[in-house]
Amino acid sequence: MKYEESFKIKDLEIKNRFAVPPMVCFHWSDDNGYVTEKNLEHYEALSKGGFGLVIVEATAITKRSRLADTELGIWEDAQTEGLGKIAYKIHEGGAKAFIQLLCAGGNGIDPNAEAPSTMDYRGGRIHAKEMTKERIKETVDDFAKAAVRAKKAGFDGVELHGCHGYLISCFFNSRTNIRTDEYGENKSLFAIEVLKAVKEACGEDFIVGIRLGVFEPHLEEGLEHAKAIAPYTDFLDVSYGGPSEGYAPEGFPCSEAVYGASVIKKELPDMPVFAVHNINSREDVINALDTGIDMVDIGKAALVDPSFAGHILRGEPYGQCLHCKNFCRWNPNEMADKDLKCPGFIKFSRMHG
Ligand SMILES: Cc1cc2nc3c(=O)[nH]c(=O)nc-3n(C[C@H](O)[C@H](O)[C@H](O)COP(=O)(O)O)c2cc1C
Repeated sequence: MKYEESFKIKDLEIKNRFAVPPMVCFHWSDDNGYVTEKNLEHYEALSKGGFGLVIVEATAITKRSRLADTELGIWEDAQTEGLGKIAYKIHEGGAKAFIQLLCAGGNGIDPNAEAPSTMDYRGGRIHAKEMTKERIKETVDDFAKAAVRAKKAGFDGVELHGCHGYLISCFFNSRTNIRTDEYGENKSLFAIEVLKAVKEACGEDFIVGIRLGVFEPHLEEGLEHAKAIAPYTDFLDVSYGGPSEGYAPEGFPCSEAVYGASVIKKELPDMPVFAVHNINSREDVINALDTGIDMVDIGKAALVDPSFAGHILRGEPYGQCLHCKNFCRWNPNEMADKDLKCPGFIKFSRMHG
């Protein structure tokens, strides 16, 4: 089966095709963004779960870049100690470790947020101002500094958060980037500048990639962005964009986002491409990999069953997300704190007696 085959991004060998995508553990960190014991236990469990790659959750490059007030941060050197423990745990379990770097832009908690263009976000609660060129340069630099900390902490690579409507995503998307300068004319320019700065700061052998929205706002533009940034990125982790319309042909066996990833892979055959969304069973994994993409991201199913990959690889029963109401979507860990368990987790636990 292709899912058990190893895979290389540059010289970095990943033992199989299963990745854990970044998923923020809300309420486990504090206002200072430091790693806690709960974060460590969480990543330890995932690292032992058979995955070839674990991408640590969106981690804020500056304090004002956060999307929540309790998420991990990488804006000061002292934070690397805890993050280094996460990288160590992931490696100890046999997986490779990347970390996602985030600047939330208008879709965060900063009341004085900045975005590509002056615009309201979060249902009008955040009035973001257009970034000056000076602030763009500072933000590029903040990404580079954060990546250097990630490298020092022992990660094998970084992934820029370039989708889901956060800052980089908003530069890509013509609905949120209505600038008339070079960043508006070339909507990939900001991402290219960040990718180049990170490479320059961390060296060629450090893996630098991006999570890209393939519908930004449509597949055509997503594909153009992928081609424009291809010379500067070591991989593309493909997800949904910001305000956008998704699409997949009738009968396509996986989600629209997987379809988008497969289109990018066909156009850029030498680029390592990861796909995500609703890959929730052995059959889904096979169907997604059969489209030609290289890695499958297992999100909520990995929260239900941190050994989802190992169980499939060994032909054992595995847990699945049951797509219940979205209440667990943004808060699975808080549920665990309250001893509430998601239905998928309960079903999986019963299977194991
Ligand atoms: C609790 C939770 C936190 C998430 N945090 C992030 C994140 O930090 N960065 C990111 O790019 N996507 C994040 N996502 C999206 C997931 O990485 C993934 O793309 C999404 O859950 C769809 O995959 P799935 O159907 O396998 O769950 C999060 C999803 C969940 C459920």
